[in-house]
Amino acid sequence: MTPAGGNWKELYHAAQHGNLELVKYHVQSGVDVNYQHPEFMTTPLIASIENQQYEVAKFLLESGADPNAKEVFGTQTPLSTAQATKNEKLITLVQSFHYLNHPNSRRKIIVTGGNRGIGKAIAQQLLTDGYEVVITTRKEKAGNEVVEELAATTQNSKISFVQGDLSSIQSCRALVATIKEKHSDINVLINNAGVWMADKTMNADGLEMSFMVNYIAPYILSKELTPILAKNKPARIVNVNAGLYVTGGLDVKKTPYGEDFSSMKTYANSKLCNTMFTIDYAKELEGSGVTINAVHPGVINTGLGDSPKLMSRMVKMVKRFWKKPEYGAIAPVWLATSEELAGVSGNFYNEKKLMPYSKKVLAEKERLYLQKTTEAILADA
Ligand SMILES: NC(=O)c1ccc[n+]([C@@H]2O[C@H](COP(=O)([O-])OP(=O)(O)OC[C@H]3O[C@@H](n4cnc5c(N)ncnc54)[C@H](OP(=O)(O)O)[C@@H]3O)[C@@H](O)[C@H]2O)c1
Repeated sequence: MTPAGGNWKELYHAAQHGNLELVKYHVQSGVDVNYQHPEFMTTPLIASIENQQYEVAKFLLESGADPNAKEVFGTQTPLSTAQATKNEKLITLVQSFHYLNHPNSRRKIIVTGGNRGIGKAIAQQLLTDGYEVVITTRKEKAGNEVVEELAATTQNSKISFVQGDLSSIQSCRALVATIKEKHSDINVLINNAGVWMADKTMNADGLEMSFMVNYIAPYILSKELTPILAKNKPARIVNVNAGLYVTGGLDVKKTPYGEDFSSMKTYANSKLCNTMFTIDYAKELEGSGVTINAVHPGVINTGLGDSPKLMSRMVKMVKRFWKKPEYGAIAPVWLATSEELAGVSGNFYNEKKLMPYSKKVLAEKERLYLQKTTEAILADA
């Protein structure tokens, strides 16, 4: 589009030198603030940010300058330019506009267990990338605190929470109902919440707690939210699993009820069930526009399994050198959003590396047995 009225070159120079009155004159005369002149190949907004002209940048943004504009012949954006200045006030200004019409903001992603650990880091990264995010938290207080914190640190206010507990079939169903009511526009479900139990703990349904939270909960959420995900396709389900699943040994008669409980093996057993579900459900989802994959996020220093019974003092010391939650967020975010995984389903990734499934997961008879048992458990509840 060519500039109408006023003069684009004069607007550009006024923006560069911080002459707010002249900038106002040209914009109000009808000059297109987003036009990129072939001689300059950039926008007046980028020029004002580069020269740290805060008031001019603010006026241009308020006048419709595109906060996500890319230089026609480069990769510089208003945000990258602001970040290069290291001027916090300017960065905050650009960020607050940056997310308003961000192309990714049309996609809404729900993350279970988003109040701490890897889930919180996933939410943070997604917000930074411009997505709209909903986290689930067990406690309302934690939900409010995290929403406030992440909105402030990312400057992206498109974050909210839904309260929900994954420790029983009924509470999972209640959470599903809330999500359907408040967020029927979600495109991605990240089943992240998980537990590593030190002691055998049974839930209200008579199920062992890690079997419930790590396997049954993602099963219920995935299946019951599929109709809305399919409506909002292309859609994805990401199961945050664990590489340790390969050490799991499933006994369908005993595992659901904790009859083979072991503080060391039960976590792996529950993740083995989750990988079995990932394979089978990917088949069921074929042609629906919804994909499902599982991922090991890395060995990450979080609160997982943080009990004296599971963590010797030695492990606790070593744990300090494990990677940070931000690292653990990288692969789940990649699975949830990357273009290269469009349409890819039924896979297991060790971080970003595609891995073959272990023999135990590929045992079809065992998977069918687990599936039938699961459906029977759900039908009875
Ligand atoms: N850390 C690792 O090295 C590692 C490695 C492989 C896989 N993973 C997987 O990564 C995922 C995230 O774990 P993390 O390391 O971030 O652990 P974490 O720091 O212990 O966080 C676990 C999250 O799950 C939530 N949660 C637990 N039980 C729940 C329940 N009954 N209902 C609702 N939410 C519940 C927690 O909420 P509360 O705050 O309310 O408890 C918390 O938000 C898990 O699936 C885990 O198995 C972790």
